[in-house]
Amino acid sequence: MYEHERIVDRELLLKQMRIFAEDSKHYLSLLSNTTALLKQYYPQANWIGFYFRIDDYLYLGPFQGNSACQYLSLDQGVCGKAVREEKTQIVKDVHELPYHVACDADSRSEIVIPIIKNDKVWGVLDLDAPTLAYFDEDDRDMLEELITILKPYLTEL
Ligand code: SME
Repeated sequence: MYEHERIVDRELLLKQMRIFAEDSKHYLSLLSNTTALLKQYYPQANWIGFYFRIDDYLYLGPFQGNSACQYLSLDQGVCGKAVREEKTQIVKDVHELPYHVACDADSRSEIVIPIIKNDKVWGVLDLDAPTLAYFDEDDRDMLEELITILKPYLTEL
């Protein structure tokens, strides 16, 4: 059934993601397992999770980490910016951004990837780290590929 290999590199992470995606029956279960895999891949990250979009709000979805804002409007935060611009945001130092929403005081850097399905932003994947400039363009490329794998299994909200 599942391989349950320890996620030690990018190829293994994407391979395990494909296994979960192909076996998916509900997107909540798939997104939950995705956060678990990402936590293995990024053990230093303090928050990893999804927000899903309904109309003008993003609502908290499956995540790993401390409790977080249950909803964000689209004009709030790095997440809102990722939705408005339909573009991945890499933030080297969240303290430099007045619009950053500090759900977890430990967060110092972050990356937010928009999930675009049928020409609409379905939601975002948000990863936070307690160190400066933790995420880079390689992470962006890998995480965008991961989103491409799970996107077909997300249903309309
Ligand atoms: N980082 C986000 C807020 C959500 S929490 O970090 C979980 C932002 O500014 O968009």
